[in-house]
Amino acid sequence: MDKLVSLAKRRGFVFQSSEIYGGLGSVWDYGPLGVELKRNIKERWWRSMVHERQDIEGLDAAILMHPKVWEASGHVSGFTDPLVDCKHCKNRFRADDPRIKGTPGQPDAQCPVCGSKGTLTAPRQFNLMFKTFMGPVEEQAAVLYLRPETAQGIYVNYLNVLQSSRQRIPFGIAQIGKAFRNEITPGNFIFRTREFEQMEMQFFVKPGSENEWFERWRAERMKWVAALGIRSEKLRWHQHGKDELAHYAKDAYDIEYEFPFGWQEFEGIHNRTDFDLSNHQKHAGKKLDYLDPKTNERFLPYVVETSAGADRTTLVVLCDAYREEEVGGEAAAEGEGEGEGEGGGGGGGGETRVVLKLKPSLAPLKAAVFPLVNKDGMPELAHRIHDDLRRHFNVFYDDGGSIGRRYRRQDEAGTPYGITIDGQSTQDQTVTVRDRDTLKQDRVAAGKLVEYLTQKLAG
Ligand code: GAP
Repeated sequence: MDKLVSLAKRRGFVFQSSEIYGGLGSVWDYGPLGVELKRNIKERWWRSMVHERQDIEGLDAAILMHPKVWEASGHVSGFTDPLVDCKHCKNRFRADDPRIKGTPGQPDAQCPVCGSKGTLTAPRQFNLMFKTFMGPVEEQAAVLYLRPETAQGIYVNYLNVLQSSRQRIPFGIAQIGKAFRNEITPGNFIFRTREFEQMEMQFFVKPGSENEWFERWRAERMKWVAALGIRSEKLRWHQHGKDELAHYAKDAYDIEYEFPFGWQEFEGIHNRTDFDLSNHQKHAGKKLDYLDPKTNERFLPYVVETSAGADRTTLVVLCDAYREEEVGGEAAAEGEGEGEGEGGGGGGGGETRVVLKLKPSLAPLKAAVFPLVNKDGMPELAHRIHDDLRRHFNVFYDDGGSIGRRYRRQDEAGTPYGITIDGQSTQDQTVTVRDRDTLKQDRVAAGKLVEYLTQKLAG
């Protein structure tokens, strides 16, 4: 994990928040490449949920909501973690922290940080929602919460969306947005953070059909995850046991990935029954039931939820793409032949490279353009090609250092194609295109590059 964290910083994927002030605990910022990667994942999700389906509408609800929303949803009373304090070193832990030896509150309990015995308090419930205040004077102002899930913005708007979009049940509402949780034991880079983004979809169905929809959505979501290019042996399902279920769920399955720190969830599919709608109906005093125009039946819909973390999915994609591998002296060969289309992989002297084997359509940069040397008309042609390509793709121009070094930088960035403009290019307007994964090079007419890359980037 340390290697990935350092690559993420070195190449501009993820930086620690407020780093120059020593950082803010478990809050991260996305740099130039990270923001592109996360956007590509979110756009892929939006396309598959909203644009490619007729039965799902999009929504962008505000982060701040009426405080009663969180009473109705059960988050004020039920969104808690049991917490223990060490009276000696003042550290805080979740009561189920596996590093704690013994029973918190009892003399045998041992603090995992300072090692003191009998200093851990009995567990107390700690609410994970961040509070803030609305209004000019803090004491008189209303307490608001930063939403801990985006789902509630969907429930309180479900009738608005239903009526304005002329959808009929079964139908869904999808949303991507920030959520906040004052996690007690955050960590593992962008895995568990205090500010994160969710990609959530609530599917409203007729009571009695929820199990069928639950299975359909499980299959859909695993198919979507697999299409990100994640190795299938690193993915598995985990069904929540009774003691794991969230306060709103009757049944829940997580999609788990085998991270370097173990198997962990990054997406959940939940049967939320009519828990949320019936509570909002009660607390708001407003009818939220649905009149089926065909049967004239009235009912409160059940909800099947798919809830993915955009940051966690980004971490899955990064972890799965990260490879260290021996390459057969590609850089050495280029040092002599310098990308004359002889193909990579041959030559002497092995070398280890770090490469992000991202699915090309997810990669932040689709191609990098390299003039082999900064003379003989090569930079001019390379700039022309770069200008032409960037009207279609996010591409990068790099003329610094040996070609081998430039390839290595782009390998670490996960850029799938390296376009080298060499001596031959200025003669016949062809360039070499190096494939990040196979190291093979094709010679392609400069005028055909857009078509060539479009084909390669599909999917
Ligand atoms: N609306 C249902 C819901 O929020 P959840 O299992 O608590 O369910 C769904 O969260 C997803 O949100 C998780 O699978 C994870 O990807 C992401 N997530 C939750 N807490 C997170 C945190 N502290 N940091 C990063 N991602 C988080």
